[in-house]
Amino acid sequence: MCGIVGYIGKKRAVDVILKGLSYLEYRGYDSAGIALISNNNTNIFKAPGKLSNLKEILCLEKEENINATMGIGHTRWATHGLPTEANAHPHSCNCKSLTIVHNGIIENYKDLKPELEKKGCKFISQTDTEVAAHLIAHEFEDKKDLLKAVQSAVKKLKGAYAFCVTHKSMPDRIIAARKNAPLIIGVGEGENFIASDIPAIIEYTKKAIYLSDNQVAEIKTDSIKIYDENDTLIANKVENLPFEPIALSKMGYKHFMLKEIHEQPDVVRNVLVDKLHDEDTKVILDDVKLNKEQLSKINRIQIIACGTSLHAGLVGKYILEELTGIPTDVEASSEYIYRNTIADENTLVIGISQSGETADTITAIKQAKEKNSHILIITNRKDSAMARLADSLLPINAGIEVSVAATKSYMAQLLSLYILTIFIAENINSKENGHIKDIKKELLTLPSKLESILNDTKNIENIAKKYSSFKNFIFIARGINYPSALEGALKLKEISYINATGYPAGELKHGPIAMLDETMPVLAILNEGIVYDKVLSNCEEAKARQAKLIGVTNFIDEKHKNLFDDMVSIPEISDIVSPALNIVVLQLLAYHISEYLGKDVDQPRNLAKSVTVE
Ligand code: AGP
Repeated sequence: MCGIVGYIGKKRAVDVILKGLSYLEYRGYDSAGIALISNNNTNIFKAPGKLSNLKEILCLEKEENINATMGIGHTRWATHGLPTEANAHPHSCNCKSLTIVHNGIIENYKDLKPELEKKGCKFISQTDTEVAAHLIAHEFEDKKDLLKAVQSAVKKLKGAYAFCVTHKSMPDRIIAARKNAPLIIGVGEGENFIASDIPAIIEYTKKAIYLSDNQVAEIKTDSIKIYDENDTLIANKVENLPFEPIALSKMGYKHFMLKEIHEQPDVVRNVLVDKLHDEDTKVILDDVKLNKEQLSKINRIQIIACGTSLHAGLVGKYILEELTGIPTDVEASSEYIYRNTIADENTLVIGISQSGETADTITAIKQAKEKNSHILIITNRKDSAMARLADSLLPINAGIEVSVAATKSYMAQLLSLYILTIFIAENINSKENGHIKDIKKELLTLPSKLESILNDTKNIENIAKKYSSFKNFIFIARGINYPSALEGALKLKEISYINATGYPAGELKHGPIAMLDETMPVLAILNEGIVYDKVLSNCEEAKARQAKLIGVTNFIDEKHKNLFDDMVSIPEISDIVSPALNIVVLQLLAYHISEYLGKDVDQPRNLAKSVTVE
């Protein structure tokens, strides 16, 4: 989503900010802008579209207009108003003295706007942010101090925000504020940085202060002062940042997505290391703060997540119910929050999120916390807002994921769910040991099986080319691979904009079958197991309607010959662990179709890597 970078120091701010914004590009945006403040002068530059458009404008500027050593920049993902130059940030007040960049949504902007208009404020954009600009400017007229103006204004704002604010009469400071949207202050020597995410500043500093909700910060070249919601100065808590700059390299792959797909064998190894040693040793999960007695009291599990993380949660339901016998519900966070969810102190609530910053999931978790449920967070970001809300934290250690389409984080979430399930099952003795041992053994063989798929992708590439001109796709599966069908379809629509839908194979005949003809390819996941014959029959039904059929299977069967138009084989694997292999085929298929169609694989249109608005 939107990205913020601020800089105050001795370097040319434009260089630091543009570089920082380029490291946030992967998060998704549709316009960009920058404000440079020097000698009581503010220069604002904005452009719709990619950051390169903004860079072109800046290249044509005279040096004296862009040589400031302080500034704020922004990449905007449109929520209120089209992605135009007028709606791009920074926004300003009537006299252009104040500038602001903002992530989040000011929910009461429609209430505040008429009052400000009555006071003479002229609005030139359709954004909610411009209301904040005028509001702070008004407070500034009264208080004559930018910190005090922001402190007073934020008390009138509802919704979510991470801000950076400057005023040309105070060119030695940037004021930052946050509520329900991430913001960090990078601590340098003789310079300081502000960013909505670590990659923007990691090249310059490894030390940062994470702003908490309702805090306001005054940042100068050589000082950082943080104030709480009562405007009381509080002590700075400087933390070490977790990323190395190298993590943002494509390492020779054409796209981050392809690199991240290929990283999955190592991702699995990373999840398992220190947790699962061999099939005879119990799973160790030091970060799960529930002992045997507490685990035995759990009578309900609720998994809340969005998008790809939700699909990982659906696989989680199958394995948790199968191995622990505890009833498990999975719900999209955005649905969980607007009804009276039944949860209590015997409910284990599992929040799953790659970014740890997804607004819907954060709200859902806060709601569950109020019911005294134990909150367990599975995330790729140990430093995220969600991680900070956790009673137990299960970091998935997938490494930074740059491609907007989640791949390796899904794999790491799946593996974390297997490990967590086994941990619970072993503690409550819910399943006979033999079954669990078999699963553990298989999990340990996953990296080499994944490698065997990734080492020979020619067949998948050919299938991708053959089907890339189709406008619609159906993905079907049953049982534990139904979520794989959903995730495979999501991957395809996200990066190729092809209309793909996942269905439980048995549901085809209850409606979707009406759409089948030779223009509608059907991809079926057929794993040897209790639903194999059923999926095969559903494939026959599709074939009888002339649909082109693609199979993904771990089973060599003569019956496939005259039925499937194309077939991808995966290594031998049990049904319960198979989602971890099947999904790689579907990720590769989506990737190669998108690449073949010449789409922007890593930054698909309209999407954001971390969705920080509800
Ligand atoms: C995945 O490819 C998507 N970009 C999206 O569905 C994502 O999984 C969803 O927004 C949830 O994000 P999170 O895991 O960071 O909470």
